[in-house]
Amino acid sequence: MAGNLLRLLFPLLTIITQHFPAAGEHPAFLKSTKPNPMSHKTEKLSHFRFYWHDILSGSNATAITIIPSVNGTTTAFGQVNMIDDPLTEKPEMGSKLLGRAQGFYGLTSQEEVGLLMAMNFVFFTGKYNGSTLTVLGRNPVFEKAREMPVIGGTGLFRFARGYVQISTHTFDNKTGNAVVEYNVHVLHF
Ligand SMILES: *[C@@H]1O[C@H](CO)[C@@H](O)[C@H](O)[C@H]1NC(C)=O
Ligand SMILES: *[C@@H]1O[C@H](CO)[C@@H](O)[C@H](O)[C@H]1NC(C)=O
Ligand SMILES: *[C@@H]1O[C@H](CO)[C@@H](O)[C@H](O)[C@H]1NC(C)=O
Ligand SMILES: *[C@@H]1O[C@H](CO)[C@@H](O)[C@H](O)[C@H]1NC(C)=O
Repeated sequence: MAGNLLRLLFPLLTIITQHFPAAGEHPAFLKSTKPNPMSHKTEKLSHFRFYWHDILSGSNATAITIIPSVNGTTTAFGQVNMIDDPLTEKPEMGSKLLGRAQGFYGLTSQEEVGLLMAMNFVFFTGKYNGSTLTVLGRNPVFEKAREMPVIGGTGLFRFARGYVQISTHTFDNKTGNAVVEYNVHVLHF
């Protein structure tokens, strides 16, 4: 009887131990590196300033509405725009192109014009060419000063964390086109 039970349990136990390795054993997909390869590098704080151009009108639009607001509310609650916005050195569109802001924003407030922004900044200049920063945050667009978190980065911005402070440079209330000054503060290696 006991022998029968063991014969039954043994294959089961083998399966369990194969699939759930004991603590301390590392399965092949997970490896911890010690020491931290970044520990000998000093983290630095960088500050960048550029201008973000959100163009909704005309043949060269950089932002398109992919989901319209379902109700005609004054805050356009529910609308979602996909963006590929130029980032320039100066407020003028023709000034040096430093990168692009690619992502989307949704209008998430019923009381004011308030955005949830999710975007990647990809830079084109010098050593930063191809490096990215990711911004995810709340942007109540008609407040004078707004702030959003920088939640990560790639390339020269690996392990980045920080924040952006933004203020509207120009806003065209007929087209919705906006130029916004971005001051980015990031800690990275
Ligand atoms: C769109 O861009 C092209 C090329 O840069 C330019 O010639 C044209 O004037 C622009 N159109 C508008 C409406 O800004
Ligand atoms: C939709 O809009 C109408 C009038 O613009 C308003 O009376 C109604 O409460 C709105 N509904 C929602 C769910 O926002
Ligand atoms: C940036 O990198 C791309 C390829 O990754 C290259 O084509 C381009 O010339 C580079 N630009 C600058 C300014 O180095
Ligand atoms: C748009 O801006 C103009 C000038 O800045 C102002 O006179 C007008 O009232 C504004 N319109 C709206 C709908 O806010």
